[in-house]
Amino acid sequence: MDQELKQSFPVDWVEDNYVSRREFFKFLTLASGGLAAGSVGMAVFSSINRGRISFEPAMIANVSDVPVGGSLQFSYPRPQDLCVLIQPKAGEYVAYSRRCTHLSCPVEYQPEHERLYCPCHNGAFSLTDGQVLQGPPPRPLPKVLLEVRGAEIYALGVSHQEVKEG
Ligand code: FES
Repeated sequence: MDQELKQSFPVDWVEDNYVSRREFFKFLTLASGGLAAGSVGMAVFSSINRGRISFEPAMIANVSDVPVGGSLQFSYPRPQDLCVLIQPKAGEYVAYSRRCTHLSCPVEYQPEHERLYCPCHNGAFSLTDGQVLQGPPPRPLPKVLLEVRGAEIYALGVSHQEVKEG
């Protein structure tokens, strides 16, 4: 009977465990290699998309709502996220969060200075890219990504920008 079993199952337990262990380590090696490759891929992906967060597109204004040199307040992506849409030149639109990156006071558009101004501690931000022009804010204003679709302006996401050196 024992002989018959050995013929039917020729691998003994010791060898069977050894094979299993080897298979297990092979699996571990492949799995860790896969994880490493995945991590590298995610790092590349996140550096490409660094700071850009897409949200559900939302129609925020009609082009006729914002005169050249004028602005319009809106909320995006949540009702409590106050933003400002500006048309500095004909057909050019920019939008930023109104929350100052210093202590969160609401910033105001100052067309005469072509900037966004925070009255709390005399902070100011560039209209072009939201970079800090003066004052204590440590980071640029988050920029709202826009798309003009016919006569409507849509917000598509928010870009948290890096501080420009120099
Ligand atoms: S809160 Fe805006 S400069 Fe301090």
